[in-house]
Amino acid sequence: MDTAPKQDVRVHIRWLISKDMEEVLAIENECFEYPWTKYDFIRSLRQRNCFGMAAEHYDHVAGFMIYELMKTRIHVLDFAVLPSYHRMGVGSQMLLKLVSKLSAKRKNRIILETRETNLSAQLFFRANGFKAVSVLRNFYTDTPEDAYLMQYNYRQEQSIPGFQGSSRITKLAG
Ligand SMILES: CC(C)(COP(=O)(O)OP(=O)(O)OC[C@H]1O[C@@H](n2cnc3c(N)ncnc32)[C@H](O)[C@@H]1OP(=O)(O)O)[C@@H](O)C(=O)NCCC(=O)NCCS
Repeated sequence: MDTAPKQDVRVHIRWLISKDMEEVLAIENECFEYPWTKYDFIRSLRQRNCFGMAAEHYDHVAGFMIYELMKTRIHVLDFAVLPSYHRMGVGSQMLLKLVSKLSAKRKNRIILETRETNLSAQLFFRANGFKAVSVLRNFYTDTPEDAYLMQYNYRQEQSIPGFQGSSRITKLAG
């Protein structure tokens, strides 16, 4: 588990491309006990409404996210930052990009599931304005764990850089 915040880095959030796959798989394998396989990524990204983005730092992938666009919400399917970049604001910048896709009338929330044992992810999403809204019993096929469904709701003031007053994002937005 991460210890303390380090110095922030500014990353470029862009679409994922096939040449990123090797680095994405390495991050996935470092971050998760039950990682997605290359086939899982390909199968997801083949879906019409499924997208991937990378956080690039000096020509390397420091983090990535896979999400699907539903009618009224964005569903995050996979989200990870390379451990050597943890606590440097990379995940928050990725979330800021997702939040910028929300609007009051159309997609007005982001949802995702976190494992009940994944405390660092819960703290991270909470620090960025998400709330746990329900428990999904026996959600996973690989372990008997439950999942927490976490949700971020669109707010008018989020269109201002430094959405929902996150000190880290405000700092990054300058
Ligand atoms: C969760 C994760 C994406 C966070 O990414 P990150 O780039 O390290 O997050 P940030 O640096 O933007 O953190 C923003 C804030 O979230 C909170 N936070 C992040 N990681 C935390 C941790 N391990 N413990 C406590 N709080 C944490 C802090 O408030 C932090 O601000 P601070 O560093 O100024 O205290 C990253 O730890 C990760 O990839 N974990 C493994 C994969 C994973 O669990 N993905 C989520 C699946 S649902």
